[in-house]
Amino acid sequence: EKGNYRHYMQKEIFEQPTVVAQTLGSYLRRDEVSVALPQFDFDISSIKRVTIVACGTSFYAGMVAKYWFEQFARVPVDIDVASEFRYREPVLEDGGLALFISQSGETADTLAALRHCKEKGQTIAVVVNVPTSTMAREADLLLPTHAGPEIGVASTKAFTCQLAVLAALAAHMAVKKGLMSREQEHEVVTHLLEAPACLNSALDHDDDIAAMAHLIAPARDVLYLGRGQDYPLALEGALKLKEISYIHAEGYASGEMKHGPIALIDDDVPVIVLAPSGPLFEKSISNMEEVRARGGKIVLISDAKGLEEAGEGCMATIEMPRVHPLIAPLVYAIPVQLLAYHVACVKGTDVDQPRNLAKSVTVE
Ligand code: M6R
Repeated sequence: EKGNYRHYMQKEIFEQPTVVAQTLGSYLRRDEVSVALPQFDFDISSIKRVTIVACGTSFYAGMVAKYWFEQFARVPVDIDVASEFRYREPVLEDGGLALFISQSGETADTLAALRHCKEKGQTIAVVVNVPTSTMAREADLLLPTHAGPEIGVASTKAFTCQLAVLAALAAHMAVKKGLMSREQEHEVVTHLLEAPACLNSALDHDDDIAAMAHLIAPARDVLYLGRGQDYPLALEGALKLKEISYIHAEGYASGEMKHGPIALIDDDVPVIVLAPSGPLFEKSISNMEEVRARGGKIVLISDAKGLEEAGEGCMATIEMPRVHPLIAPLVYAIPVQLLAYHVACVKGTDVDQPRNLAKSVTVE
């Protein structure tokens, strides 16, 4: 069932335009250019706080969603990894929405956190890819991703589909709270509907990424930098490199570099910078310059405009289509996944079954 692909992970990366479109199809109305969520029997406009809990890649989707909930719906968001959440005695007041994100719907820590929140009277929303899973059954509000079965241990298409659902949910909450006008909703939905085509253009750069993977493959350590909504993508990029290429990688918020990690910079540590042009671009580039001034080797991932402004002197660049900041996290997931994939291929690791890992982690 891998078709022409060498690995499931590769196939799943390339399925993203299709499955993201499928997922968006059940949360947006193309004809009306509006958000359309499934019916549920609580008033989302009365939600006072959102608590997001997940693990791994699903957690990073939650981190992106925090920006959206806060920006659109002006609702405070608390987010934690599931294995820490229950043990820190979280404050869960009435009127809270607890949101769990999981590909499998079976991750033990996330499930335990869900049950804890249920006991504490929270409304339970679940973004899940396996519709028959335990988490799906225990949700008050079930928000399925339509990514189809994900076989590769490294999560790829489930992540971008989670982002699609979460963006729609945040916009829906904003509309219901009266914070998003009809025009703004139209704009957000239009950008989301552009995402599948932008994912396709990002995938067009597969060959370029494959060609530069040998620059990263020999590294022992790699740093990934991102800002704002793209900061979680830096974390995701680092996780992917660790998981399947066995390279020690860390994701950092670009502005945090100078508070410590910059001490690591030398010409053996590639620094991969995610910097789409947009409101945070100049800041990201000055952080990148701090790295360059210390002899760091940079891979800049940006659009044509960004690369023109700041691409010179980089060890390598990866061009992305120019996109609205809202969908940048979906689009920039592609180079991050492809880079880890091609580096793993150069190194000859077992891409679909990396050592020590299981697809679904059912122990706490
Ligand atoms: O099934 P889940 O989304 O709950 O799984 C969470 C993590 O175990 C998962 O995302 C893991 O980090 C992946 N291997 C990342 O690629």
